[in-house]
Amino acid sequence: MILKYLALASLVILYSLMFVGGYISAAGLGLTCPEWPLCPNGIMPDDEYFIEWVHRTVAATTGVFILATTIGAWINKDAGRKIKFTSAFASALVVTQITLGAIVIDTKLHAVLVAIHLGIGILLFAMVLLTVLFAFRLGKPVLHTNA
Ligand code: HEM
Repeated sequence: MILKYLALASLVILYSLMFVGGYISAAGLGLTCPEWPLCPNGIMPDDEYFIEWVHRTVAATTGVFILATTIGAWINKDAGRKIKFTSAFASALVVTQITLGAIVIDTKLHAVLVAIHLGIGILLFAMVLLTVLFAFRLGKPVLHTNA
């Protein structure tokens, strides 16, 4: 029961994160916070680092939700192979994406790495979306048609 809401929350937070990421990129704010993992002022940064700080904080929150969804899928006895795969793949992608985010900063927004960051984000969204769909089907009878 909780699994589907955990998966849905992951999807909503991830969508918001990608929205913020797109804004940072389009507004040219990618290097406003040049340090990693914290911005120069620490946990609560100045206004100038705010948008980058939001992206990192929401990324960490997304990571926690996606990992929790994966654990939920793997311990749920009704869960099949598909949801176990999509959730585990999403977890691997989110860890990769957060690591890549740090490298993107370190390489001063290397164009290829920013493109890969976007590509992994889209793949991650697809995996979390599939996980939500499978989670909402859990426990429902499977219909077989002759068509
Ligand atoms: C689950 C984790 C993350 C997701 C899904 C994500 C997603 C995105 C997306 C979709 C963009 C827009 C890319 C574009 O329009 O080309 C973006 C931009 C960006 N992300 Fe992330 N991100 C994540 C984590 C991080 C982390 C941890 C950092 C580390 C600081 C980071 C740093 C950046 C930067 C600097 C940009 C702007 C790049 C530019 O200026 O072109 N991201 N992110």
